[in-house]
Amino acid sequence: MTTVPEIIHIRETNSTNNYLKELLQTQNVDEGIVVWADFQSAGKGQRGNGWESETGKNILFSIVLFPGFIKAGEQFILSQIVSLAVANCLQEYTAGISIKWPNDIYWNEKKICGILLENTILEDNIGHSVAGIGININQEDFRSDAPNPVSLKQITNRDYNLEEILKTVVDNINVYYQQIKIGKTDSLIKQYKESLFRKDGYHLYNDGESNFLARIQDVNSSGILILRTNEGEERHFAFKEVKYII
Ligand code: BTN
Repeated sequence: MTTVPEIIHIRETNSTNNYLKELLQTQNVDEGIVVWADFQSAGKGQRGNGWESETGKNILFSIVLFPGFIKAGEQFILSQIVSLAVANCLQEYTAGISIKWPNDIYWNEKKICGILLENTILEDNIGHSVAGIGININQEDFRSDAPNPVSLKQITNRDYNLEEILKTVVDNINVYYQQIKIGKTDSLIKQYKESLFRKDGYHLYNDGESNFLARIQDVNSSGILILRTNEGEERHFAFKEVKYII
């Protein structure tokens, strides 16, 4: 990406991820294009969940990348740079921001941003990656069954210009993407690990059968979370295999 990427701002779509994926099927799309919506009628979250947001209150956007240089087994680096891009932006507005493995952004014990990456694999490498990002900014109330949400306004008691924050996040993604393109991944991976929610100390987790106490030992390049239990056992978890008890 050498030119300033285009931002397509639309009033409504079912999902900005779907919008970009349809664009990819019907026309030539430049790398770095952003689709930003005021409202999504069927916003998508992880684990097949939805993502709801009041019209015009929060940031809802997707960006497309063509990371053909990344092997399928190494696609976690994309989650890492996108989450860092959001976390480093939000840190400018409030303390208490961290990355909850694999790629949720938290403020203290509450979720301020969700990220949904949809990658295609071409032979052994990534074809395209649609990274969808929802950041809670100016919304003041959330549905009572929404899991643990918080917005920047709820934290700081003021409104924000959505476009300004969106552009900072997009700039961050582009800067970090250029770095991984030239193989400069070490410092980004280090930053990711240093930004992790619960990076220190023992906390409660659940493996689907029972709760256990453990500390985060590492996250490997495939995105596996490595926990060390209070009994000294090393346990490896892929996404969805372990729950944080908060
Ligand atoms: C999560 O469940 O944490 C992921 C939420 C991702 C939501 C964003 S909003 C913009 C983009 N479009 C979607 O349909 N989902 C992502």
